[in-house]
Amino acid sequence: MASLNFTQIRNKNPISELTLTRSQTTGLARRTRVGFKVVAAGESPVEPDLSVTVNGLHMPNPFVIGSGPPGTNYTVMKRAFDEGWGAVIAKTVSLDAAKVINVTPRYARLRADSNGSAKGQIIGWENIELISDRPLETMLKEFKQLKEEYPDRILIASIMEEYNKDAWEELIDRVEQTGVDAFEINFSCPHGMPERRMGAAVGQDCALLEEVCGWINAKATIPVWAKMTPNITDIAQPARVALKSGCEGIAAINTIMSVMGIDLKTLRPEPCVEGYSTPGGYSSKAVHPIALGKVLSIAKMMKAEFNDAGYSLSGIGGVETGGDAAEFILLGANSVQVCTGVMMHGYGLVKKLCAELKDFMKLHNFSSIEDFRGASLPYFTTHTDLVRRQREAIEQRKAVKKGLQSDKDWTGDGFVKETESMVSN
Ligand SMILES: Cc1cc2nc3c(=O)[nH]c(=O)nc-3n(C[C@H](O)[C@H](O)[C@H](O)COP(=O)(O)O)c2cc1C
Repeated sequence: MASLNFTQIRNKNPISELTLTRSQTTGLARRTRVGFKVVAAGESPVEPDLSVTVNGLHMPNPFVIGSGPPGTNYTVMKRAFDEGWGAVIAKTVSLDAAKVINVTPRYARLRADSNGSAKGQIIGWENIELISDRPLETMLKEFKQLKEEYPDRILIASIMEEYNKDAWEELIDRVEQTGVDAFEINFSCPHGMPERRMGAAVGQDCALLEEVCGWINAKATIPVWAKMTPNITDIAQPARVALKSGCEGIAAINTIMSVMGIDLKTLRPEPCVEGYSTPGGYSSKAVHPIALGKVLSIAKMMKAEFNDAGYSLSGIGGVETGGDAAEFILLGANSVQVCTGVMMHGYGLVKKLCAELKDFMKLHNFSSIEDFRGASLPYFTTHTDLVRRQREAIEQRKAVKKGLQSDKDWTGDGFVKETESMVSN
């Protein structure tokens, strides 16, 4: 079982009357309702605090580089820290990089313009890239160097191995020695690796997942996040198994299995490698609503069955704006990862993300991320309940139109409308 060192979050707003409901020892204490604080005239609102503490790891903001090209080597990870990203998750590593052979082209993009104009906005991105093809020894040296140069910044190693207990134990041991702060386990890569019983092959099989999580959590001494695949009927099932098997957090989603398209002149699929292709992983803006749906399923399950206590959730998929990130947080995410967004807009994107998230928080007078984390969850219900609510609302509106049946029906809030409902002209 990974050991935890939780840091307590302070209530930044001394005048707040909002109560704390979660155990203060978990470090994940949160307020019971959405905060709309009254700011006195002339008083400037407090600058929102974007910092978060997730499984004891303190980050200056919730924006995390998602595993992929933006975390492939020392140079780019250093750049991410320098630009101000809250944390970096490196490209997934395994013991034997010699088995990882990439092809080119390995990306294909979907543009919003219907006639395929090269000027249309990129909304979808498919990749058939594998995990890191760099020697593990090289990656480990770079992790160590980064942690020496940035001891206060959070570096998370993404790892993946074959179905072999000794291999997992060796990988965990060697990566932990570099001083990384946490692990994200890639149970979710949809292409290439499942052929070797890795990645999504584990995340899609709850029995296999339970066994592998057991090995990992018995060995790891730092927090472990399980990264889930959306290519499964009910994503909450493997997430539940991962948490029950000792993982401290869930990250979702990895890419969605896809075929980007077929060239109608050549009849060959994209991305086309020597005339052939293979289904790949879909990411970017187009996956954002799907990712929100998957994160909602996981968040509801975590709240109902784990009471949120000490467990974390990292939302991933199509984030390019502060508003996209706010949506994941409103569903209960503690952090938000960005991968394709960085490939399209560069590392400086984090500044825009922070500014936009702050603007959103100022609009609602939220002073911290915990002020609104999970605030939209109560507004999801069943379709049957929507029907009941709508029927009741229509009946109420009809009753108001008809006028009050008795003096006891007058209400304070609807008083003017109730008066008008009984006027003849
Ligand atoms: C080119 C590319 C390579 C990726 N490689 C990895 C990887 O090595 N490990 C991993 O866990 N996820 C990998 N991912 C998935 C991303 O981390 C992320 O889960 C997914 O792309 C959705 O987020 P996004 O829309 O912000 O990119 C990769 C994504 C892309 C686009």
